[in-house]
Amino acid sequence: MNVKKAIIPAAGLGTRFLPATKAMPKEMLPIVDKPTIQYIVEEAIESGVEDIIIVTGKGKRAIEDHFDHSFELEQNLLDKGKFELLSEVQKSSKLVDIHYIRQKEPKGLGHAIWCARKFIGDEPFAVLLGDDIVKAETPCLKQMIDQYNLYNASILGVQKVDETEVSRYGIVDGSKIDKRLYKVHNLVEKPKQLEAPSNLAILGRYILSPRIFDILSNQKPGAGGEIQLTDAIAELNKYETVYAYDFEGTRYDVGEKLGFIQTTLEFALKREDLRNSVLNYLEALMEKELNDSVNRN
Ligand code: UTP
Repeated sequence: MNVKKAIIPAAGLGTRFLPATKAMPKEMLPIVDKPTIQYIVEEAIESGVEDIIIVTGKGKRAIEDHFDHSFELEQNLLDKGKFELLSEVQKSSKLVDIHYIRQKEPKGLGHAIWCARKFIGDEPFAVLLGDDIVKAETPCLKQMIDQYNLYNASILGVQKVDETEVSRYGIVDGSKIDKRLYKVHNLVEKPKQLEAPSNLAILGRYILSPRIFDILSNQKPGAGGEIQLTDAIAELNKYETVYAYDFEGTRYDVGEKLGFIQTTLEFALKREDLRNSVLNYLEALMEKELNDSVNRN
């Protein structure tokens, strides 16, 4: 069966970006001038996904508005002859069929996925998290769907992370069966560095069998008192083979502050309209900072 549906969970509290996320969804924070969630939606579409369900929560109205038409704004841009901006604005509302469901309480990623069960039904589906943006020749999710089509089993998108960072991720204990593919033996959510079975971290992309919903229905809270998707996948792995795929491409961690700043800078430097002025600014800033620190010492 083909993977045609995707879930984008976006009901988390975004505590790492407070106070910015008190009234604004973390998923709407822009990288240069595009909200992070739009990068994710575009990746899903480029990978062949036809229907997307976004799991939203309290204070997430801006996400729905972003992917909807904005009649007044569009008319205003049209009247002023700002056609390029108009087509940019219209792009987000023409992307694909997007559906919404509300997670009434942020009880964890596993619970957010479970909230979308009726929309998915009995077919394999993709999950994309907005914390990770991936730049790759072949979109990250497309690479994983290609693997799904070969193995007909759940696939987790992974990459190696620095060993000091493993405690931030779901970590895979697996054996390599092909150049980029691992058979999963077990999964550990946010292990301590010394207890981690590897440094292969699950990075915000999944293709899952619908059997995960039965498991999530009975899933007890795990790390952080939340219903963890990683724990449910570890359980799924007892009944069905689960693979981890080391995807190609550069992954940008926009879910935490430093990663967000790095991503913004790198994306700005790739834009023709911004590259030179950003580079000049950075050069001048570096020089000033160096002079200041020499004067201080
Ligand atoms: P995160 O833990 O990275 O997001 O969850 P968060 O909770 O919003 O952010 P912090 O950690 O407090 O800063 C990963 C993804 O799962 C979603 C989040 O929106 C994010 O996209 N999520 C998490 C839900 O949809 N519901 C939840 O209950 C928890």
